[in-house]
Amino acid sequence: MSADLIARLAAALGPSGLVVEEADMAAFAIDWRRLFPGRPLCVARPASTAEVAQVVQACAAAGASIVPQGGNTGLAGGAVPDASGGQVVLSLQRMNKVRAVDPVGLTLAADAGCILKVAQDAAAEAGRLLPISLAAEGSATIGGVISTNAGGVNVLRYGMARALVLGLEAVLADGTVVDLNRRLRKDNAGYDLKQLFIGTEGTLGIVTGAVLRLVPRPRHTITALLSVPSPQAALDLLALAQEELGDTISAFELMSGFSFDLLRRHLALTPPIASGDWFVLLEAGASLSGLREAAEAALATALENGTALDGVIAETGAQAAQLWALREHITDGEAREGKSMKHDVSVPIADVPAFLDAADAAIAAGAPGALVNAFGHLGDGNIHYNVILGPGHDGAAINTLVHDVVARFAGSISAEHGIGQYRVDELIHRRAPQEIALARRLKRALDPDLRLNPGKVLPAQE
Ligand code: MLT
Ligand code: ZN
Repeated sequence: MSADLIARLAAALGPSGLVVEEADMAAFAIDWRRLFPGRPLCVARPASTAEVAQVVQACAAAGASIVPQGGNTGLAGGAVPDASGGQVVLSLQRMNKVRAVDPVGLTLAADAGCILKVAQDAAAEAGRLLPISLAAEGSATIGGVISTNAGGVNVLRYGMARALVLGLEAVLADGTVVDLNRRLRKDNAGYDLKQLFIGTEGTLGIVTGAVLRLVPRPRHTITALLSVPSPQAALDLLALAQEELGDTISAFELMSGFSFDLLRRHLALTPPIASGDWFVLLEAGASLSGLREAAEAALATALENGTALDGVIAETGAQAAQLWALREHITDGEAREGKSMKHDVSVPIADVPAFLDAADAAIAAGAPGALVNAFGHLGDGNIHYNVILGPGHDGAAINTLVHDVVARFAGSISAEHGIGQYRVDELIHRRAPQEIALARRLKRALDPDLRLNPGKVLPAQE
């Protein structure tokens, strides 16, 4: 059966469209953190939506499962196959084009495998902004960003990926292509079917292309790094910044002193300001003048009233990039420190300081000696509360400790990374049975044989 399937795929895709050698499949078989190793039957690399449909039809006929994969930069193991050797990885990487940019209608259409950075650059060339930015943007793909409803650093101003999707096309479990590639700002005609494929990690259909919303590109941008005495002070600073800079704030990132220790220790990166226990990276953008003056005034007030201890506003684009490099290398520094349990949690924004206190207390009591690397998107309530494991620490127990605290604040155990295979059990455990039952009904309706990315988001078996 698998030989027949491989022959059919080879005929449909040609020599550059199918990978079958173990060594050549290695990069597609495991996630970049190397936590979820798998073994695919083969890797299909279609070059068009029609070819995706052919792959899906061939797999349906053979009863084979399909694991869609974009840039393979996810943090929850959502895009890698299981170890059975029977799943077909469907890589969208060859579908990598920007299809069209409309600077007046403020839209960008792209293939699913188009790298996020390539799409950002195409928007910039047209004088517009594709307002989604994340550390993995040099390899993450548009389809992956949509399928995981990715977040990133601009969510507080522009929303998550979902807020930017105007239209998309998807291939269903039986190979049907649904073209929902509309470019409309207003469209209330019936069910909003594209939502079925956003954030559902390829379990209900495979996104093959999309139309994204652009925004005018702010002419002026300011980037500032501040040290603050506590998370509560960071929150006070957010309120002050909102007063003074209004809706121009596009990023408000919190980083702990420990995050910066990791940068220093492993990457020789140091902040250009006096160290504090916590740091904030703030970015704002506007097209009208006066932004820098307003930011300077806000910084002066914060330093005066003790909300901030020190701060710097970048003078040049290169300096701004250096400040961002600090933020973007935290994950790298953490990986070099040792094995960590990541927690991608969110709580109501105003509860972040209390959440951090409670989680620290839970770790100190339940996993003494474990080091906490807390940082993230304070502006939208999403904290990466990552715990570095020492000898004798039990990762699963630490997960429970942290997620129990999240539950006390009515938060979410996955704010932006999705569920993948990593958090399936947690999701079942943390969400109401009615919610899970509804999700299963949806899954059954769209993928009756449970062949689309099985074991991701929901368990493989019912
Ligand atoms: C980030 O915001 O840098 C990533 O989402 C976080 C992580 O590595 O946990
Ligand atoms: Zn993040």
